[in-house]
Parts: sequence; structure tokens; C-alpha cells
Amino acid sequence: GETKVPMSRLENGKYINYQRIEDNLQIVRDRLNNKPLTLAEKIVYGHLDDAHNQEIERGVSYLKLRPDRVACQDATAQMAILQFMSAGLPKTAVPTSVHCDHLIQAQVGSKADLARAIDINREVYDFLATACAKYDIGFWKPGSGIIHQIILENYATPGLMMIGTDSHTPNAGGLGMVACGVGGADAVDVMAGLPWELKAPKVIGVHLDGKLSGWTTPKDVILKVAGILTVKGGTGSIIEYTGPGVDSLSATGMATICNMGAEIGATTSLFPYNDKMAGYLEATNRSDVAQYANAFKHNLTPDKGAEYDQVININLSELEPHINGPFTPDLATPLSKFAQAVKENDWPAELKVGLIGSCTNSSYEDMSRSAAIATEAESHGLKAKSLFTITPGSEQVRATITRDGFTETFENAGGVVLANACGPCIGQWDRQDVPKGVKNSIITSYNRNFTGRNDANPATHAFVASPDLVTAMVFAGDLTFNPLTDSLIGADGKPFKFSEPSGFELPAKGYDAGENTFQAPPEDGSKVKVAVDPKSDRLQILEPFKPWDGKDIIDAPVLIKAFGKCTTDHISAGGPWLKYRGHLQNISQNCLIGAINDDNKEANKVLNQVTGEFGGVPEVGAYYRDHDIPWVVVGDENYGEGSSREHAALEPRYLGGRAVIVRSFARIHETNLKKQGLLPLWFANPKDYDLISGSDKLSIVGLDKFAPGKELTIKGKRANGEEYSFQVTHTFNDGQIEWFKAGSALNLMKQKNNA
Ligand code: F3S
Repeated sequence: GETKVPMSRLENGKYINYQRIEDNLQIVRDRLNNKPLTLAEKIVYGHLDDAHNQEIERGVSYLKLRPDRVACQDATAQMAILQFMSAGLPKTAVPTSVHCDHLIQAQVGSKADLARAIDINREVYDFLATACAKYDIGFWKPGSGIIHQIILENYATPGLMMIGTDSHTPNAGGLGMVACGVGGADAVDVMAGLPWELKAPKVIGVHLDGKLSGWTTPKDVILKVAGILTVKGGTGSIIEYTGPGVDSLSATGMATICNMGAEIGATTSLFPYNDKMAGYLEATNRSDVAQYANAFKHNLTPDKGAEYDQVININLSELEPHINGPFTPDLATPLSKFAQAVKENDWPAELKVGLIGSCTNSSYEDMSRSAAIATEAESHGLKAKSLFTITPGSEQVRATITRDGFTETFENAGGVVLANACGPCIGQWDRQDVPKGVKNSIITSYNRNFTGRNDANPATHAFVASPDLVTAMVFAGDLTFNPLTDSLIGADGKPFKFSEPSGFELPAKGYDAGENTFQAPPEDGSKVKVAVDPKSDRLQILEPFKPWDGKDIIDAPVLIKAFGKCTTDHISAGGPWLKYRGHLQNISQNCLIGAINDDNKEANKVLNQVTGEFGGVPEVGAYYRDHDIPWVVVGDENYGEGSSREHAALEPRYLGGRAVIVRSFARIHETNLKKQGLLPLWFANPKDYDLISGSDKLSIVGLDKFAPGKELTIKGKRANGEEYSFQVTHTFNDGQIEWFKAGSALNLMKQKNNA
């Protein structure tokens, strides 16, 4: 009979469909004349919405794909779910999970920190819990762990495809899954049953020879690759690991490597299915998945002779441990040169804090190796010299390392075990040991180390290394310590050298699941009421935007003519504003406040053409909206570059904006604007940017004949009555024009759903 293997033990009636991938690949292989395929291509093309008709050219075509799963963390889930709700669908179209991990601040230790977070964030958690129950979404409560670790333990599946609203979603590549980080708007589409669009990725092959040993760990593979490719080198590419060296890595080690591929801009990273993955699937109660994958192994490994766009060779037997940083994850220094680099660059040599764990490096293997190092230090009577924190990636990891004595070892050494959450990795760290502005060094086993990321102190030098090195250095209290060559002095006054660390890939006694922190959706969630307090300043139900009234847009004031770079950070700033990401009205108070007004070269100071007074951008925008005056934004090149943050499109729309006219758009932001019912328009002649000033009014004419490939006319009026006109182009297709007419993509979805 037909094989029915559940996608996860936690979901009913949802099965892995390897046959569909096989069928899609048959079609694609015929069309590509049986050219050998990389693994990345097999999985991506295996998920094509229309394998027969889709154009397929690596690095060129835009693919329409059907991911198997969506995952959201609690910070990004808020707006994603609010948008999903406004589509009016009864439940999510593909299996989805939400993870409460980003909002827990590290202060004193796991228990107290978690209790405080639950108190402070109660309304957000209640909203997410009830919305998940209503829309058939698995909800992982605060304390359950970090999204990517939970995915690896429960949901990651070789050969399947997932999107997640977090940049380190590629972690699941450690189990052979194509897992990509996306913005909320993409997640909403897939949750609503629409295909997901991705530019056909290029494929970078990293060929691994040899075998890891001694102090070299999987983390060092990615630290090395980051040094080679730099923070931009993976853009538009999937990084695919191949070669005999792969089999010397643990599954969780492969996940570490894929996780940190985000730091080089890669679409995702990926390992071929092997016995190590099968072993991890079995250890996490998924032998059925392993068996099914074994039967389809030909689709879970690359073809012989597959061509890569670029190949990097690494011999694991010769690879040294690396330390990357400070301030950027691609500044890679081999351990043997690091002490010298510290001196030459005047990096603070005293190590203030060592932090292990996070979604990147908190596996049982990582923890067992770190515990072995700590045990050895203890046997010489040493305690940690630096502050030492341990972040378990999940409740399962926490329970298992506690049962097996590692937690006690860390605590005996002076370590503090933090909540199973992101904590200091995302700046949720109430750091007290060093005042802001004071130069100091920390070292983490995390992934990102941009200025201020961990503790909001721009003078903190954050280095990234394996948990092994972090742990050894904590006992030295000194960044120039090299455990391969240097000795420490024990409590008995005698010098000793650390042995090579060793640990266990998987727990001999199996995993201990710990406390149950999962809320499964009820069989029928239709009666559940989603909890949103109308008085909340953090959450607000989205009201649908008005549909197009069928008329041209006449005499719309230019709200701002943005000068120079205008990224999504200029359009919707982060930092303290992130608190309001579930409340469109409140977060809209940051709309375009970072953009520079071309008229006066100042930020957040624009002319209110009605009152003649100057005001902040959000204030003037809202004034126009409240007086039924449509407005437009004018911008320069690559407008909206940066992130896929959907707030950058929602906010101008909420404040009554109708069009954004620029020399060029960053593609994702352009699509996000279309989805929210705005008109992203391009100057047909880029010089026409110079015609416009912030005191002009623009009319967009010919909207009744709005069609793909057809230019529109803009008629401009200056304050002195002078008139001018110019042409604009656009990239709308027929379907996207329907979004504009309906007022937004979600409005259209709702219309279709109610029809
Ligand atoms: Fe969280 Fe840091 Fe990972 S913010 S998801 S632990 S990269």
C-alpha cells in the first residue's frame, strides 16, 4: 500500500510526500535533458508548483514553490498572524508552528527570567496561544526552547522544504531540509495556501575531505567558510556540503554549520542525507522518517557530476580551530594566530564573559564536550575566571544535560544556566558587569557579533568560536590563551594542559523530553476567540485597507522626497520600535523617520502642504490621511534595500500613502508594497527624479488602463503653479494588479474566499 509517514509526531493527518518530489523531478529531468543535479536543485525543483511550465535557470528565474512547513518566532509571528487573520481563512494551509523564544531577557538565571518574561509579555503570549489554537498552529510556550532547535528535534525532515520568519531557519539543513529565512509577508502567503516565490538559487559546493579531530569542531568549518566567502558571498546561493568529510560530522554539527550560513547571506545551507542524520532521527523518535528517507536516498543526495557555480575545498584533517570577530562574523583568525592578532589590533585581552549555547551550538554533543573541559578544570581545582553563561537550545536539551550531570558541572564551575531561549544572542541581556561604552571582550558560541548585538554596548568586542574554545577560555579568563599549546596553573600550583575535548554525539540513555511545553491545536479551533485587548499598546487587530475607488489619484502631495539611501531601516526603524511590531498604529510612528528629506537634508522634517508647517513624517502622513488626501513618496536608487520587514510597506499604507516613485526598488520591498495595495512605480527616465520637490503635488493618471508592461503618466504641480509631467513604469503582473484593486493581497484573498 501507500506509505504514510507523518511529518511530525505532533501533527495529525499530515504526511511526508516523497513521491511528489520524485514525480516533479522526473518532469524537470526530462526538461533539462537529464543534466546531473545538485542536491539543492533536487529539493527546490522537487517543490515546484508547476514543474511542467516553470522556467528554470539558476540565478535567473523566479520559481514558484510549495514549501511543506512554516515556522515563526514570537517577535515576527505577531504581525504575520495578524495579517493571516485579516485574510479571513479558517486555518493555515500548511503545517505551521510558533515558538516563544525571543522575548525572554537574561538577568539572573532560567527560572526567574522565564517567570518575569511570562509576566511582561503575557498579552503577546496569550494572543499567540489563542491564535495558534484557532488556526491549527502548533504553539511552543516560553521556556520550550529556541525555534531552530525545536525544529531540528521535531520537524526537520530530509528533502522537505520549510520557510521560517527568522534568519537562522537554515539550521534545519543539518537534517537535509531546504529551510529558508523569510519575511512575514512570505510566511502569510504560504500559510494562506499561495506558492512562495524564490529566485532560482545558485549552488556553491563546499567539498569536505578528511576528518575532524582534537579541538576542531563543526563550528570551525563555518567560521572558515565565512572567512572565505565573507558576509555577502553566499547571497542568492544555496551552500551545499559534499565529499567524504561529511560523514565525520554529527547531525547537530551539520546543523551548526547550516545555521551560521546565514552570516554569509546564503539562501540556505544543506547537507546530503546520511547515516548520521538517520541516527539523529531515530534518537528523536522518528525511525519511520529515517526509513522512508532511506528508500528515497537518491533524491536526498546530489547526482554524480553535478555542477556547482563555485567550489570550495576544505580538508577537515588540516582545519584549525578559528575565532571570528570582533564586530563581524567573517573576520576569521586561526587559533594559532589569534593571540598575536589580539595584541596587534589592541583588542582587550581580558575575557569578561564566555557564553555557550544558542540555536547555533547547544546540542547534547556541544554540551558534553564543554562539560568535559569544565570537569578537567575542576579536577585541577579551577573555577571560571570570566563570567560564564549556558543557554540550552531546548527544554529537551536542558533536561537531558541536567539528568546527565553537565548542568551541575557548569554550575560548580561558576556558570549560570539561562532560560531555554535566545537571551543574550538577541540582546535580551541585562548585562551588569561592564558599563556601557567601556571597551571589553566577550566570546560566544553564537553566530552573529555585529556591534552592540549582545549587550547594546558598541565598545564590546564580541568574538565567535566553538563552545569548546569558549569554555576553555573562560577558565583562562584571557583571549590570548591557546588550549592546544598553553598551560594553566591548577589550584595545586602545578601547570596543566587541557586534554583534547571529547563528548557524545547522542545521549547514551536517550533524550529526556523534560517538561511538556507544547500546546497542540484542538481538533476544531473555529470557536476559539483570539485574545487581543483593545487597550493593548503592543497588539492591534488589522483593519483591511480600502479598495481602489476606480479613479485616478489626483493632486497627491509628496510626503517626502527621500535623498540617497533609503533602506527598510530608514523606512521602519528597529531597536525600541520592535516592541510595537504587533501594533500597526503605534509602530507607524516610526514611518520613514530615518529618511533624509531632499529639500532640507534633514530627517523626519517635512512640509505639511495644507498647513504650510513642518512636521514629522508620520504626523504629516496621518494628517493627510485624516483629511482624505492621498500622498506619495519619491525615492532614489535601490529603495527599500535591507530586510524583508513587512512593516516598511504596511506603515506607509496605514498612514494613507498610495504610491512610491523611485529610480529603482529592492525587489522584496517592491513586492511587499504591492501586497499592501500600494503602487511602486519607477521613473521611466531616472533624471525625472530631479523634477520633483517635497512641496509638489503629483497626479497618477491612466489607472483605468493599468496593465502589465504599460507605462503610467504622472502630472506634477509645483507650489508656484508650474506644471510638468513624466512617465513611470512598473513591474505589476495581472494578479498583482488585482491586489491593487482589492486594496491589498489579503483583501483579494478574502474576497476569493468569501465568493
Ligand atoms: Fe535566537 Fe540567536 Fe538563534 S536570536 S534564533 S539564538 S541566532
